Amino acid sequence: MKRGLLLGLVLGFMLSTVDLPTAWAQDDGATLLDQRCSVCHSSDRPKSKKKTPEEWNATVTRMIGKGAKLSPDEKQVLIDYLSKTYKP
Ligand code: HEC
Repeated sequence: MKRGLLLGLVLGFMLSTVDLPTAWAQDDGATLLDQRCSVCHSSDRPKSKKKTPEEWNATVTRMIGKGAKLSPDEKQVLIDYLSKTYKP
């Protein structure tokens, strides 16, 4: 009984990840920016810039080199968000 419920939950979770609110599946770009990019300077620093996707990639890679904590997946989510939101 319990197992069936658990299995149902896991299956339901897997099937619904596509429409799941992003906060559930993974932090969204805005959250990552506010949480991970405000450790050493305020997140206004990136927010005041406008960059192309290549430039954001280079900046985020540089920040990870300095110590920003982002998994490869989170890095991609953040770069996509930055490129969409803070573009020239
Ligand atoms: C470990 C500390 C640290 C973290 C975490 C960090 N930064 Fe930085 N950041 C710095 C320092 C130090 C500078 C100033 C020196 C420089 O520009 O290299 C800087 C400068 C910047 C600048 C201005 C220079 C430029 O290239 O335009 C931007 C934009 C920036 N950071 C974005 C980010 C973003 C986006 C994140 C989140 C992924 C982030 N930072 C996380 C340390 C950090």
